[in-house]
Amino acid sequence: MQAIKARRSIHTFKDEEVDEAVLKKIFTYGSYAPTHYMNEPWNIKLYQREGKRQLVDAIITSYQRIGMLKTDDHPKTVKMTESMREFLLQIPHHALIFFEIEDDPVRYEEEYAAVCAFIQNAQLAAWKYGVGMLWTITPYMHDKGFVDDVGLDSSTMKVAAVMQIGYPKKLPRDRGRTPIEQKMEIISG
Ligand SMILES: Cc1cc2nc3c(=O)[nH]c(=O)nc-3n(C[C@H](O)[C@H](O)[C@H](O)COP(=O)(O)O)c2cc1C
Repeated sequence: MQAIKARRSIHTFKDEEVDEAVLKKIFTYGSYAPTHYMNEPWNIKLYQREGKRQLVDAIITSYQRIGMLKTDDHPKTVKMTESMREFLLQIPHHALIFFEIEDDPVRYEEEYAAVCAFIQNAQLAAWKYGVGMLWTITPYMHDKGFVDDVGLDSSTMKVAAVMQIGYPKKLPRDRGRTPIEQKMEIISG
């Protein structure tokens, strides 16, 4: 309960890796999420060390393809592209979470819901190990070219999130939550 309330989304990370064994434990806890038909739809590509370059190259290429980054050699463009690259590379680990696309929209929702439960379980487990995460949904995730560039078949696989992972440098303040009474209708009779 303490972890549920104290966990924060982490935006800045220490320059320190999380041990692979700890990351495996974190995602193992994640995998105890509920899953319809026991499908366990979650899959992870974990990028770290030199491996991050593959992901970051795919992200930058995607941003260029969808027009969020220019491709000219103007110093301003080069600077913007390089600062994006540096920002992403200094994050210790990136976990790309993906699942197989179900054609039936109901089944698709079920799979996505289970993957989200997996992600939140993992975030809470991570918090217990002092590890911070940022759940990101970004424009490149919706770009089929990006999905193909990271070696997935975009016609069969959907990227649900990219988690940024590391030891927190700074803890954001707790902004609290709306009292649940404002979101809850009790029907007793
Ligand atoms: C589905 C989902 C997508 C999110 N995407 C982003 C994102 O792209 N960038 C970001 O900074 N935070 C993202 N967040 C984190 C939220 O901004 C964060 O959970 C919210 O501000 C509450 O802060 P807390 O997690 O510290 O309680 C996302 C959260 C969820 C659940």
